[in-house]
Amino acid sequence: MGFKEQIDKSRLPEHIAIIMDGNGRWAKNQGKFRSFGHESGVLSVKDIVEGCADIGVKYLTIYAFSTENWNRPIEEVNALMELLIATINNETDTLNKNNVRLNAIGDIASLPQKCIDDLKSAMEETSKNTSCTLTLALSYSARWEIVEAAKKLARQALDQKINIDEITEKVFSSQLTTVDMPDPELMIRTSGEHRISNYLLWQMAYTEFYFTETLWPDFRKEDLFEAIVDYQKRERRFGKISEQLN
Ligand code: FPP
Repeated sequence: MGFKEQIDKSRLPEHIAIIMDGNGRWAKNQGKFRSFGHESGVLSVKDIVEGCADIGVKYLTIYAFSTENWNRPIEEVNALMELLIATINNETDTLNKNNVRLNAIGDIASLPQKCIDDLKSAMEETSKNTSCTLTLALSYSARWEIVEAAKKLARQALDQKINIDEITEKVFSSQLTTVDMPDPELMIRTSGEHRISNYLLWQMAYTEFYFTETLWPDFRKEDLFEAIVDYQKRERRFGKISEQLN
């Protein structure tokens, strides 16, 4: 039996977050440029989005470009931005066919203008889709996001629009870029690295982590389904004890 058949559809994670890692090493292993790894990584993105839409995962959030990635060599940054623009433009029709809505989080204003414009158009064109929301984390870092949320609340308090004692976890969450999404139940990181790398730090307080040695360009639906089967074997206690769960 394949992993897909082993998935209990009644207990699917509603939101899966992914750190797509290992593109550079995958390319280097074959004596190719790093950008070839990123291009190949797009094929994995397509396959995983299709897999999520197929089984009914409602939210998929992928770390496409971190704030820290701006520090990479300029040629690689440019190649990634061009790849992003090309992918957005080439894949909008497929997103529509799969009923997938495109969304983006991060410091979008810091991206090249063409990227901002094409992203906005693709988000608009897919805005009515309902099967799955694909969120690209772009120029994103969780600490940036948390500081931005704190600033917004501080401004509201200064303007006397909110009382400081009214600031709860729920109110704080409402100021984050993920406001309309549930927290991820499952986070997958490829390539054998065991780190969060400034990704969704607030939202992943109770997320189950799944690490695989597979490099991102080799990661396919079957690997996603394997991760979900593994997740479904875990007991999520949220600080309670086993006996309290049922
Ligand atoms: C990490 O691998 C990957 C990235 C920083 C970029 C991920 C981008 C893509 C898969 C393509 C663009 C995506 C979309 C949605 C258009 P790495 O470069 O850090 O690999 P390494 O650790 O082996 O060096």
